[in-house]
Amino acid sequence: MKIILLGPPGAGKGTQASFLVKSFGLVQISTGDMLRAAISEQTKLGVEAQSYMNAGELVPDELIIALVLARIKQADCAAGFLLDGFPRTEQQAAALLTAGVVPDKVINIMVDDDIILARMTGRLFHPASGRVYHKVSNPPKVAGFDDVTSEPLAVRDDDNVATVKKRLSIYHADTAPVIAYFNNYAVTKGLDLCAFVDGSENLQLVRANIAKVLSAFS
Ligand code: AP5
Repeated sequence: MKIILLGPPGAGKGTQASFLVKSFGLVQISTGDMLRAAISEQTKLGVEAQSYMNAGELVPDELIIALVLARIKQADCAAGFLLDGFPRTEQQAAALLTAGVVPDKVINIMVDDDIILARMTGRLFHPASGRVYHKVSNPPKVAGFDDVTSEPLAVRDDDNVATVKKRLSIYHADTAPVIAYFNNYAVTKGLDLCAFVDGSENLQLVRANIAKVLSAFS
């Protein structure tokens, strides 16, 4: 099974991805997590990506496309994977299809901008695993510490109001058209590809609605 999770920054893609990985035995491919790991290790990719990410801009297509296509070829992806944060431009979507990677489902998690802005100010994450929490809606068992490792949680460098607004405007300009791109592809191929889920509902309801979309695969 090959699943794509689309949605604005803070829609809940990472949160729902962690549920889906457990329920469906998929490998999660989060480009944001991969880039943050590259930054923390200061690899060539990390050094190149850091300024784009801190500014809330997209990392250039050629870097991301190469990263994802190489990751998909690894053996652990053979049984299925979930793309979280990719594709984010029509060029990235086209590269995926050109490489012969046709998703089984493209799930769009829809959330209005004002809700996103409120969510981002409360987000915490566990740097080593990418596990995501929220101070109010999804708090860790012990405030400030990861549930699994008990290590300290952190706030992302790009989770400030100005950068989130920039990321939202880039989402509307560059990433929202990816939905239409997949819709058009689905029409030409006669596929039932795109699904829409209201991401402003609570975590459990969003999870249940995504599970409903994927029920045909379980
Ligand atoms: P990335 O890390 O992918 O960030 P993003 O898409 O902006 O998405 P987020 O991780 O911010 O949000 P999310 O949808 O995963 O929400 P989450 O589950 O955390 O990318 C970061 C940067 O990397 C980009 O800006 C870009 O520079 C670069 N990049 C990455 N991929 C790229 C690509 N393909 N091309 C080019 N550049 C790329 O939830 C958010 C918060 O809300 C959490 O606190 C959570 O607990 C809470 N929450 C979630 N769901 C709910 C709910 N239903 N109710 C209440 N609270 C909720």
